[in-house]
This record gives sequence, structure tokens and C-alpha cells, in this order.
Amino acid sequence: MKEVLHQLRGRVDRALEEIMPPEGTHPQRLTAAMRYSLFAGGKRIRPILALAAAETCGGNAEDAMFAACAVELVHTYSLIHDDLPAMDDDDYRRGIATCHRAFDEGTAILAGDALLTMAFEVLSEERSGSTLSPDTRIRMISELARAAGWQGMVGGQQADMDSEGAPPSQPVLEYIHTHKTGAMIRCSILLGALAASAGPDMLRAMEHYGEKLGLAFQVVDDILDVTSSTEEMGKDQGSDAARGKMTYPALLGVEGARSRARDLVEDAKGALGGLGRGDILLHIADYVLLRRI
Ligand code: IPE
Ligand code: IPE
Ligand code: MG
Ligand code: MG
Ligand code: MG
Repeated sequence: MKEVLHQLRGRVDRALEEIMPPEGTHPQRLTAAMRYSLFAGGKRIRPILALAAAETCGGNAEDAMFAACAVELVHTYSLIHDDLPAMDDDDYRRGIATCHRAFDEGTAILAGDALLTMAFEVLSEERSGSTLSPDTRIRMISELARAAGWQGMVGGQQADMDSEGAPPSQPVLEYIHTHKTGAMIRCSILLGALAASAGPDMLRAMEHYGEKLGLAFQVVDDILDVTSSTEEMGKDQGSDAARGKMTYPALLGVEGARSRARDLVEDAKGALGGLGRGDILLHIADYVLLRRI
């Protein structure tokens, strides 16, 4: 299974290389910053989830690959902006200097903007050999827009900033995490399922799995910010405590947060229960809980 995930990651990286402007493309500083953050590494968990969901739903890999690339473009943009001095003000990301440190703030803002808009370009382009109907394509575009925007990731990021220094509250924290992180993870799985023309029962199961896994992913991210190291994670450890972020360890303690993450992952796996397939998705759920980076 580890080998399967490794292969999926390799396929995602090759597909991203194909759609990105090559090195040296004008305006060079912008395309260099886009490539710098996108190819710095990263686990590629969202595109892998899109491909795994498509496979579970019996779909066409190439249609899902464009969705997979689109979610990784939006995710990388969100990391570049999340690290800016006006937001989390972090210095390291994916094992190297953050985009605004390696380039400058203005370029980092624009590189993020360019990756975000490119995601919609990728999803909306006609592709020869594509089996997707225009209706499905529009649904995918609309789901991604909603997951990325004010009702999703951006809304969660605003609540995350607004809550700095506030005493932890369960409903506020759940809003922050389901939006800033959960929405894009749920959407990654949903786009994979849509690319595979999944029926209503399958879509419901995938959405349920995605919601639980998305929240679990951010609970574990909070735990790692306390228990891991900058070297291991490739990003600044202790950043949450330094900024007074509202996190699950702050609300429940590290052990309480671990137990919450375990319950969420069990729920996610339970959503796949009746399907009789979805081994990769089960494995990814375990990985989300046990990951060290
Ligand atoms: C980090 O996401 C930001 C969160 C939403 C928690 P990842 O942990 O997936 O980061 P990369 O893509 O592997 O760098
Ligand atoms: C960020 O959450 C979620 C995003 C939308 C990028 P964090 O601020 O906890 O992510 P990290 O820990 O910096 O990766
Ligand atoms: Mg943040
Ligand atoms: Mg951050
Ligand atoms: Mg974090």
C-alpha cells in the first residue's frame, strides 16, 4: 500500500510538471515563485485522495488527474498565503524557506493568486479524450470554488485569525478546522468521485468520509505542531502556541486531541463500510492518524 501511495504521488508530480509553466517562463520571478512552492515537496495528500476516490468509484484516471492537480494548486496557494507575515508569519515550509522569505511578500501574494486562478483554468479546459459531461465539469468547478472561498477555506482562515488569543471553544474550533482544512479535503474526494461519475449513494459515502477525514487531518496537524519538530515536519514547529492559535490540544490536551482524531478516523472508515471497496481510502485514513509529518 505504501508503494501504491508512492506511485500515486509520482503520477501527481508528473502531471503537475506538465501543466505548470516551464522554468524560465516570463514573467520569470512569478513563475519561479509558483514552481518553488509547488515543487518544494509536500505529501500530495489531497490529489492522492482525489485519485483514490475516483478509483474507488470506478472512474477514468485522466479525468480525475486534472481535478487532482487543481486541488493541489489551490492548496499550495493557501500555504503560501497562510505563511505570510500578515497571517502566520512562518519562515519554513516543505523543508525550505517560505515563498515570501525566498522571494518577497508581493511576489508570494501574486504566486498564490496565480496558482489559485490556474486551478480553475485547469478544471475548465476542454480535454481530448475526456469522458466528463459539461454539467459534471461545471459541478466540479462550483464545488472547488465553494470549498476554497468564503464558505470554505478562506472563511476558516478568517475565523482562525479572529480567534488568535481567545480561550478555546469547541464550536468555534470545529468551525475553524472544518473550514480552513476540512473543506478542501472533502472537496478533493468529492471531485475524484464526480470525475468517476459516482452515483448518489457513492457520493454521499465519499462526502461523509471526506468530512470526517478532513477534520481529523487538522486535529493531527495541531498535535504535530506541539509534538513534532521543525526538522521532521519541514515547517515551523510551535507556531500555533507562539501565535495563541485556537487548537485541539489547547482545548482537550494532546491526549484528548489524539482520542478525538482516532474517533474521527474511525467514523471516516465507517462511511466506507458498506461499499465493499475503498481499500486505498481506508489505508489513507490510517495514514492521516499515524503520520509524523
Ligand atoms: C498543511 O497541509 C496545511 C494544513 C491544511 C494542515 P499538509 O500537511 O497537507 O501540507 P503539505 O502539502 O504536505 O506540505
Ligand atoms: C492552515 O492551517 C490551513 C490552510 C488553509 C493553509 P495551519 O496554519 O495550521 O497550517 P500549517 O500548520 O501552517 O501548515
Ligand atoms: Mg494558519
Ligand atoms: Mg500556518
Ligand atoms: Mg498547523
